[in-house]
Amino acid sequence: MRVCQTKQELRLAMADLRSQGTVGLVPTMGYLHDGHMQLVHSAKSECDHVAASIFVNPTQFGSAEDLTNYPSNLDRDLKMLQEAGVSVVFTPTPDIMYHPNAQTIVETTELAQKLMGELRPGHFRGVATVVTKLFNLFQPDRAYFGEKDYQQLQVIKTMVRDLDIPVEIRPVPTVREADGLAMSSRNVLLSPQARTASIVLSKSLDLGQSLAQSGASTEDITKAIADMIRAEPLAELQSVDLRDAETLEEVSGPVTRDVVALLAVTFDPVLLIDQRVLTRKEPS
Ligand code: PAJ
Repeated sequence: MRVCQTKQELRLAMADLRSQGTVGLVPTMGYLHDGHMQLVHSAKSECDHVAASIFVNPTQFGSAEDLTNYPSNLDRDLKMLQEAGVSVVFTPTPDIMYHPNAQTIVETTELAQKLMGELRPGHFRGVATVVTKLFNLFQPDRAYFGEKDYQQLQVIKTMVRDLDIPVEIRPVPTVREADGLAMSSRNVLLSPQARTASIVLSKSLDLGQSLAQSGASTEDITKAIADMIRAEPLAELQSVDLRDAETLEEVSGPVTRDVVALLAVTFDPVLLIDQRVLTRKEPS
């Protein structure tokens, strides 16, 4: 496995790798868990080679505090990627990644402003810009993103469509802990009590799915999910939204097409998100 810290090293390593077959890219901010590794396994099963990046991107964080508290363990991450058969890893610092006078941004105008974009202004601009840079640096055939960050996935798909970026975006279903909590690098920041309470996210989404199947309206489902979360004293509900699964536009009435339930909940001070696509049909 080649670990590259500079763009020059990376470009050389990638030119070499691309000459040997198709390449799948897995962009991450490190502190890897089984959710990230599922992206690596999917890439491995569909591409000849896998490349990854580990970069805690400052431009997508709202507060400096959130950024400094972001967990990291580079040695462990590199070991996990090597064991999973990754060929090239890029681990730049912010000054390597960004020109000191950088002034170009990538923004999906409507998608970036709603939902999480409202809660964290500028977040998706930071994501879209860094992911564009990673696509230009790696030039992969495919890139893998988790459905857990559902709006991020839609932002990236939209950006690739609108800017004709020659990469195929492959979504990967959310990997969960045994009790249902979606795996996240932030989970380690939860107190033991908050960790126990945090299963309310997936439980409320299960409830949403069963209500959707029994023909409930999106309004009633939204209320039932919110009530369940509000009943958990350690949880502070930031938002619950049922939206069209593709455009993230508002929906109303009974669930007749796929809608996604998007949750943002804080367990002071940790923000957790989760999502589930709700359908009228039995999930297969
Ligand atoms: P990060 O939070 O490290 O996540 C990297 C990728 O792993 C994302 O595509 C995310 O959706 C996916 N992922 C995280 N937890 C998952 C889970 N439980 N199941 C399945 N996939 C999961 O998302 C980012 O980094 C950054 O915004 C990035 C895209 C790297 C740009 O900086």
